[in-house]
Amino acid sequence: MKFLVHTYGCQMNVRDSEAVEAMLVAAGHEKAASEAEAELVIVNSCTVRQKAEEKAVGKTGNLCAAGKLTGLMGCAVKRLGEDVFKRLPRLDFAVGPRAIGLIPKIVADGCFPRLELGEEMMSEALASHVEGGVQAFVTILVGCDNRCSYCIVPDVRGHEYSRPAREIVAEVRSLVAHGVKEVCLLGQSVLRYGVRNAAWDGSDAPSPGGYAEAFPRLLEALAAIDGLRRIRFTSAHPKGCTDELVRAYREFPQICRHLHLPVQSGSDRILADMGRHYTRAEYLAAVAKLREFDAEFALTTDVIVGYPGETEEDFEATRSLMDEAGFDNSFIFKYSPRPGTRSAARPDDVPMAEKERRDQVLLADQERRGLERNSLLVGTVREVMAEGPSKRNKARWSGRDGGNRIVVWEVPPGEVPPRAGSIVRLRITEAHAQTLVAVPA
Ligand code: 5AD
Ligand code: SF4
Repeated sequence: MKFLVHTYGCQMNVRDSEAVEAMLVAAGHEKAASEAEAELVIVNSCTVRQKAEEKAVGKTGNLCAAGKLTGLMGCAVKRLGEDVFKRLPRLDFAVGPRAIGLIPKIVADGCFPRLELGEEMMSEALASHVEGGVQAFVTILVGCDNRCSYCIVPDVRGHEYSRPAREIVAEVRSLVAHGVKEVCLLGQSVLRYGVRNAAWDGSDAPSPGGYAEAFPRLLEALAAIDGLRRIRFTSAHPKGCTDELVRAYREFPQICRHLHLPVQSGSDRILADMGRHYTRAEYLAAVAKLREFDAEFALTTDVIVGYPGETEEDFEATRSLMDEAGFDNSFIFKYSPRPGTRSAARPDDVPMAEKERRDQVLLADQERRGLERNSLLVGTVREVMAEGPSKRNKARWSGRDGGNRIVVWEVPPGEVPPRAGSIVRLRITEAHAQTLVAVPA
């Protein structure tokens, strides 16, 4: 059967969609070139904010109306449960994020409608990859037990569990043998790797060294793999920014000097209410540690504006924190109450117009800050992994430096373009807020 998977949400969803594609191909199905050609369409949904869920569910509704075999997977399914069929009466199947390993069997059985919310992540769903790329996502930790007040993720992705290290190392070895040059390790909070269950020997007891141990050891094991040029990971919590982590950065040049470190707010009052388990000062100390090690260390973040009770003063604290941290990039989200979370019990009292205003202010700040940060790099020579022709201008190539910054450069006509996955040395000539322009060094 010809199939297509549409993906909404974060990198974890991108990874899950890839695993579903790989499993369906292994079961004898074929990826369709277009939606028109597809006989089966699966939508992978997000539910982190109400808008995200509406988009995915809306798209699924349109597909159901088109009369194709239609499935919905991912976070929104787990949140909606049986109600998913009330929202989408013509939906054929719905599968929660930990049950995606069942999709090939569900399609083969052909008994619809069908709902699977399963708790046990199947190892096949974790390890299946689509071959051919130079970059790959590898899940090292699933679920989350942090219980931030606003966040639906623990409800939909379940308890935190670290995959056994030997499975991850074997998976990355096999990816590298098939041409992968860069892996990005995924988890809601990757620096908690091995904290809840000992990922090293596969037992259920926590790793003896906790934060200090398991993740840096995993990095060390991966850095020993020949042919793996780059190791990235996302997302992170400041508690995990230990000296051992910095030592791993220092010791292994393959580890990219970029961290996505969601801060959410710069106000201690709001941080405490959110249950983030750090103060503004602790967050900034983590930033200082990374930037002391390398002033060019790239830091990106997520921020929520309009959290219940967020005053002008709280908001200004967020603004000033963002400047102090000097984020290279940031993602701003307008607060959206999620049913069943702690903060949803409080009135959503910042008016939408005010959320919009705060959003715009932070975006403008980031535009200026991004340009400032990037301007510091003009004249430097950077190692850039070539990815492919630039989407905006086909005469240009595009890639990323170790800080995950997008770099574009001109390949003169007649010259052989670089191979995707090769690392080229480029001198930065021009800075923009979101991209760098370069010439061969
Ligand atoms: N409302 C708005 N933004 C949210 N995020 C998570 N939950 C909510 C919510 N209820 C944001 C956080 C998180 C990012 C993925 O989405 O900033 O880091
Ligand atoms: Fe990712 Fe969270 Fe959205 Fe799920 S709900 S796709 S974990 S952002």
